[in-house]
Amino acid sequence: MTAILLTIHLFIYVVHSKECYWNSCPYVLFGSKTLYDDVRGDIRDVPEIEGCKPMSLWVLARHGARNPSVYDCNNMMDVMKLKDEILNSHAAGQGEMCAQDIDNIRSWKWNDTMNKQFNNLINTGFTEVKQLGARIKKKFSHFLEHVDYYVIRPTNKQRTIESAKAFNLGLGHNLSFNITNSLKIDEVLASYETCPRHTRDVFNGPRMPMEMNRYYLTDEFKQLQRNMKKRAGLKELSINNIEGIHDLCRYYRTLFNTNKSPWCALFTTQELHLMEYSKDLQHYYRNSYGNSINPKLGGPVLKDLYQSFNNTVKSSRTSFTAYFSHDSLLDMVYSALGLFRDYPELTGFKRIVDRKWRISLSTPFAANFIAVLHRCNTQEDHTYRVQFFINEIETHLCDTRTCSWNEFDDKFKQFLNSTLDFCIIK
Ligand SMILES: *[C@@H]1O[C@H](CO)[C@@H](O)[C@H](O)[C@H]1NC(C)=O
Ligand SMILES: *[C@@H]1O[C@H](CO)[C@@H](O)[C@H](O)[C@H]1NC(C)=O
Ligand SMILES: *[C@@H]1O[C@H](CO)[C@@H](O)[C@H](O)[C@H]1NC(C)=O
Ligand SMILES: *[C@@H]1O[C@H](CO)[C@@H](O)[C@H](O)[C@H]1NC(C)=O
Ligand SMILES: *[C@@H]1O[C@H](CO)[C@@H](O)[C@H](O)[C@H]1NC(C)=O
Repeated sequence: MTAILLTIHLFIYVVHSKECYWNSCPYVLFGSKTLYDDVRGDIRDVPEIEGCKPMSLWVLARHGARNPSVYDCNNMMDVMKLKDEILNSHAAGQGEMCAQDIDNIRSWKWNDTMNKQFNNLINTGFTEVKQLGARIKKKFSHFLEHVDYYVIRPTNKQRTIESAKAFNLGLGHNLSFNITNSLKIDEVLASYETCPRHTRDVFNGPRMPMEMNRYYLTDEFKQLQRNMKKRAGLKELSINNIEGIHDLCRYYRTLFNTNKSPWCALFTTQELHLMEYSKDLQHYYRNSYGNSINPKLGGPVLKDLYQSFNNTVKSSRTSFTAYFSHDSLLDMVYSALGLFRDYPELTGFKRIVDRKWRISLSTPFAANFIAVLHRCNTQEDHTYRVQFFINEIETHLCDTRTCSWNEFDDKFKQFLNSTLDFCIIK
């Protein structure tokens, strides 16, 4: 009897608890617009390396969460015109949205900061980078208080300049580092901007949009388009609209502490996986393995890393470097190092579910690649070892937790040859 009652109870419960966006545990991976806290590790929790102390710390970070670009805003504003149609369809008993999600879309309003300050760092992004600075301070406080040489330099964009300030603030009052002015032409931190060949052949080239369009024509994506149209009760829904809804979802969730945006309700979790793949494809072709120019543009900044550590090894002078740049450069660095590489290559023909190239995890807001040079004492001598972190997760480029100096030398010396000569279009 109890069993039967229980069964009935469960049945009633299931029937009445429709899974909606507002009452679910939402999916949080949004490509390069993923919030850092949703994917990061914590450098403070990584165990010390016995018998070693840091001699050189080198940080390459992306700016924190920012406002959308002009292009993204235009897509988003086009989608806002669909808002009334979605509400009216629901009122007429069409579509498949939950009542609460519809209410939340109804009361949602465009936030003027988005299109008044295109691309600028937002408060959430400032906090992301400040907290990164604070954790680095906690982990390396003794080292940072006695550093012989340092440089903190952003690219010449508001979002990286503000991020450098946020980071400095996170390092705390006791450590007053000066920020170096950004350079108008920065061949190290914005190598791709100084490379006409990249601009012509890759950034504005045909391959990236071709692969993305190819993916938009797959059965699974066409199914997404049909399902979303039906769910929202819309007559038409273009690919640009879908991208616009995705942007309204991912940008608006970064504006407030709730980390939610009612526009996310138009997607199922499975559909957000497909959107994520389309963004991974975009970055793969624009910044990474999809074109052989991309890894070369990661070279100059890795040359800087090599030289910085070599100087410390040769001179015993400690050094601290913190650079603030963009997702493009981080993606280029990953591809120069052969990280997150897939075989077969990513293409638009088919989504590779178990891929390594996932920018939600590797290049979220405030993404960072950190290298630490340690001096380790043995009984009669000392040796050097290099440790790496990606987004505060220890990353093993060699067989053990760290690379020996020789292993580091083998992997990084090649970047001394880096040149942007190939960038010139004759
Ligand atoms: C717009 O967003 C900012 C957060 O970035 C918030 O402080 C402000 O109150 C919002 N404005 C409106 C009208 O919601
Ligand atoms: C600042 O430095 C002083 C003296 O070196 C030290 O006692 C204090 O704990 C430091 N404060 C912070 C916040 O690191
Ligand atoms: C920062 O710059 C000021 C002014 O140039 C200088 O006096 C100060 O020593 C610098 N601080 C550090 C830590 O380099
Ligand atoms: C390593 O550093 C030493 C001393 O600063 C310098 O003379 C040498 O050229 C550097 N080697 C490379 C490969 O940069
Ligand atoms: C650098 O380039 C020269 C000439 O192209 C080549 O001989 C040398 O092996 C390269 N060095 C490294 C470390 O890749």
